[in-house]
Amino acid sequence: MPITRDIALAARRLRAGQVVAFPTETVYGLGADAGNAEAARRIFALKGRPANHPLIVHIGETRQIEDWARDIPPLAWRLAERFWPGPLTLILKRGQAPLEVTGGQDSVGLRCPSHPVALDLLRQFGGGIAAPSANRFGRVSPTRAEHVVAEFGNAVETILEGGDCTVGLESTILSLLGDPPVLLRPGAIARAEMEAIIGAPIPGVEPNTEVRAPGLLDSHYAPDTRLLLCRADRLATLTAGLLGRGHRVAVMTRTLPPDDLPPGAQRHAMPTDPADYGRQLYASLRTLDSEDFDDIIVEQPPDEEPWRAVNDRLGRASHESSMSIATERLVEPS
Ligand code: TXA
Ligand code: MG
Repeated sequence: MPITRDIALAARRLRAGQVVAFPTETVYGLGADAGNAEAARRIFALKGRPANHPLIVHIGETRQIEDWARDIPPLAWRLAERFWPGPLTLILKRGQAPLEVTGGQDSVGLRCPSHPVALDLLRQFGGGIAAPSANRFGRVSPTRAEHVVAEFGNAVETILEGGDCTVGLESTILSLLGDPPVLLRPGAIARAEMEAIIGAPIPGVEPNTEVRAPGLLDSHYAPDTRLLLCRADRLATLTAGLLGRGHRVAVMTRTLPPDDLPPGAQRHAMPTDPADYGRQLYASLRTLDSEDFDDIIVEQPPDEEPWRAVNDRLGRASHESSMSIATERLVEPS
């Protein structure tokens, strides 16, 4: 079993150029020595990730920004001061970070995670750890050590145990390459909190901007089972329509009372609080994906700022680009 609590062993293996999976507060990462291009290449091979998709460099101390980035704007230090350690990744101009790590780009993503095991590993290792989420490319990120085993089997020899991730969704990514900063990926850090530090509104990434971030690909974070996003007021109808076609259906719902769900569907209750929901989302998707359903219907959470990160991930995990269209079509009698 590759799961271990031996942080010193994991640090030694990183130094030897090996790949080590480790917990962060967001999701588990698949780490390698960020200063070792050969070690970084192993991550890409394991994940099946295209070589031009950059890795985040994790650091244990804010001052290590200087080890990897150059021309660091004062705003980077202020944001780091306020949000690190924590679930915020800053995109800066590349300094000493190898091009293999940055996917060939002249920029680098940096983050200081807050999980105590990650911080201890970073301290014992001393350098930066390049790490994407510890899942195969395009799949749901792992939020517990067993998920990493499910993704890679014994191909990853060292998986540090760190319990369930407390955030459960990948970090907020903010690009400081231009002015104003641009939000590349919503996460647990509220936009308003960042705007308070920046002193100006943060634009989101333009829908058709070409940014090389796999998190921005449309189909990402996806389970194998078809996932359908559905408005709360149409859940029962859509479920009945699919059951009527002989589908096996699971329904992830926050608000639908058990009595309102057509018999035959499996109800999977989700939290009504956005942070709790985010913490639980990926584990729920993995559980339902491993069971024998044809469809996972997910009740669309409110279109409100606190739900932004959850809605972003659900949108990418869903197999229909426009759920309203899918809903219309699926409830038509066939
Ligand atoms: O919470 C997280 O960020 C987790 C944990 C392990 O830290 N990591 C994670 O890594 O989600 P990954 O590789 O699955 O997603 C990182 C995202 C990718 O979309 C990547 O393209 C983007 O960060 N990224 C990294 N460096 C970048 C850069 N220089 N420019 C633009 N995007 C970058
Ligand atoms: Mg990922």
